[in-house]
Amino acid sequence: MCGIVVYVGSKQASPILMKGLKRLEYRGYDSAGIALLNKNVRVFKSKGKVADLEKHIAGQNLEATVGIAHTRWATHGEPNNINAHPHYSQSKELAIIHNGIIENYDSLKKELVNRGYVFESDTDTEVLIYLIEDIQKNEQVDLFEAVRIALNQVIGAYAIVIISKNEPNVLIGARKGSPLVIGVGEGEYYIASDASPIIEYTKHVVYLEEEEVAFVKLNHPLKIKTIKNQEKTPYIEKLEMNLSELEKEGFEHFMLKEIYEQPRSIRDSFRGRLNLEQGIVNMGGINEYEQKLLNARRIIIIACGTSWHAGLVGEYLFEDLARIPVEVEYASEFRYRNPILTEDDVVIAISQSGETADTLAAIELAKSKGATILGVCNVVGSSIARAAHAGAFTHAGPEIGVASTKAFTAQVTVLTLMALALAQRKGTLTSTRFMEILTEINSIPEKVEKTLKTSQQVIEIAEKFKDVRNFLYLGRGYNFPVALEGALKLKEISYIHAEGYPAAEMKHGPIALIDADMPIVFIATNKGTYVKVVSNILEVKARKGIVIAIVTEGDIQVKELADYVIEIPETEEMLVPLLATIPLQKLSYHIAVMRGCNVDQPRNLAKSVTVE
Ligand code: M6R
Repeated sequence: MCGIVVYVGSKQASPILMKGLKRLEYRGYDSAGIALLNKNVRVFKSKGKVADLEKHIAGQNLEATVGIAHTRWATHGEPNNINAHPHYSQSKELAIIHNGIIENYDSLKKELVNRGYVFESDTDTEVLIYLIEDIQKNEQVDLFEAVRIALNQVIGAYAIVIISKNEPNVLIGARKGSPLVIGVGEGEYYIASDASPIIEYTKHVVYLEEEEVAFVKLNHPLKIKTIKNQEKTPYIEKLEMNLSELEKEGFEHFMLKEIYEQPRSIRDSFRGRLNLEQGIVNMGGINEYEQKLLNARRIIIIACGTSWHAGLVGEYLFEDLARIPVEVEYASEFRYRNPILTEDDVVIAISQSGETADTLAAIELAKSKGATILGVCNVVGSSIARAAHAGAFTHAGPEIGVASTKAFTAQVTVLTLMALALAQRKGTLTSTRFMEILTEINSIPEKVEKTLKTSQQVIEIAEKFKDVRNFLYLGRGYNFPVALEGALKLKEISYIHAEGYPAAEMKHGPIALIDADMPIVFIATNKGTYVKVVSNILEVKARKGIVIAIVTEGDIQVKELADYVIEIPETEEMLVPLLATIPLQKLSYHIAVMRGCNVDQPRNLAKSVTVE
C-alpha cells in the first residue's frame, strides 16, 4: 500500500525515481509525486497515475542527484494534488514520503496548531514532518535524532524517508509495520518499499527491522539505530529476484502473464520438496517444527482475501490427509476477537506479500499467547516471513497484478505438500495412496498447461456475459474455496457483483436470485460430491438459470445440463483447485478487459494491504 522509491548517488535521480514509481504503481495509484534536492527541495506531485505525474514534470528542470518519490493509496484525505506525497515541512526545508497511518495524528496536529503551525493538506504525513521540524528546531538536534525523537511520540505504522535542504546527500528512513529496504550500490544508495525498483541497480540490500531508523549518507557506511537509541549493525543480504520477473514479457497485462506462469510457479513450489524416487516430501523450512505440528491440538490458518481461500483448501487438505483439526480465520476478525490459544496450537499464516497488516497483527497476537507460527509467504524477507518462527516460501516469483493468481496456486501447492508430509509421518495414508497423490502432483504443471489452452471457450463465455450485473459461483468440498476465489477475481477486476457459495447452501437463500438472466458458474468435477452438485445444477435449470460448468474431461452428465462447459483434465480430488481455478481466473480477466477495466490496477485496491 503506497510505494516508496528513493535515490542518492551521482546519477540523475528523476529517471530512476520515475522508473521505480512505475514498478511500484501496483502498490497504490491514486496520486504520485517526487521531491528533488539540489540546493533547495522541490516537490512535484499530481493526482492520478504515474503517467499523470510524468506529464506534469515534462519540460521542468529536474537536475538533482538526490530525490524521494511516492505513489499513493489514500488513507487520510481524498486523492488530490495537495494530499499527494511528498509533503514539505513548514519551512519547506524538509520533505517526507510515508506509507502507513499515524493513528494519533489528530492530537499531534492539535498541539502543533496551538503552537502556530498551519497545515496545507488533510494528511497524517504532513503532521509528522511538521513535528520532526519542530523537534529539530526546539531541541537543536540533527535530522537523524529529530526523526528518532519524533517517532517515539507516534502511534501507528510507518515507512518514511526524509530529505533536508541543510543535509544534502543524506536520507533518513524508518519503519514500523510497513516495509522499507535499502539498496547498497557502488557509490549510491536506494531505498524502496520493496526490492522491485532496486533490483536493476544492485542486489545488495538491507531490510530495516521494526522501529529502526537509518542514516543513509553518500560515500559513508550505513548507520542504523532503534527509536530507543540502540545502535544496530546493518545486515546486507543478496536478492535472488531477477529483473525479467518484473517485466510483462510481451503479455498485455501482468495478470495474464502471471496466469500463464502457473505451470512454472507450481513446479517451483514443489521442486526440491517432492521426491518421487525416494517417495518423500521434505519441507525443509518447517522440519524443525514437524513434531509440534504432529502434536498440535489444532492448526489455525490465518489470512486475508485470496490467501484465505487457499487457507480453506488447506483446511480440507490437513483434515482429509493428515487428520489434524483445522480452523481457518480471517486475520482481521481473529486479531480482535480474543481467541483462545495455547502453546499446543500451531498457527499457519498465509500471505503473498508477507506485509498484510491484519495478518501481521494476528501473528503477533498468537505469538503473545505462546502459539507456534509458521508462515507460507511468497515474498522473501517480508515482515510476515520474518515474524514467523519458521515457514515455507511459495516460490511463485513476484506477483504484480493486484488480482492474485499464481500466488493462490502456489499456496495450495505448498499446503498440499505440508499436509502430505504430516500424513506420511502420521501414517494416515497408505504408502500406495501417498505415492499416487505424489505422482499426480508431479503431473499438475502439465495439466495446468493443458487447462490454459481453453481460451476460446472462455472468451466466448466472457463475450456473452460481460454486461450482466451479477454472477453466482457454486462448488462443494475442495471446490467450495474455488467458487469463492472465482467470485473474488471477477468482482475485484470487472466490478461485476459476484458471490461464491457452497453449492448446497444455494437453496437456503441465493436460489431466490436465479432467473433467466443469472449466470451461475458450477465447479462440477467428477469426484467427491459430484452427484450432489448435479442435483444442484438441476435445481438451477428448473428455475431457468444459465449454467456455466467447469467439468472433468469426458464428463457426460453435466454437459447435458449445462449451457456452457469448460473441461479440465482429470486429477485427484484434492488437486482439483489447482486446475479449476485457472479458467475462472481467465474468465474474470477477459470479462474485465472487454469491459475496459484496468486489470492490473483495479479501482480502490492495492497489492499489499499494509493498513488496517
Ligand atoms: O499479500 P496477501 O496474500 O496477504 O494479501 C491478501 C489479500 O489482500 C489479497 O489476496 C487480495 O484479496 C487480492 N487482491 C485478491 O486477488
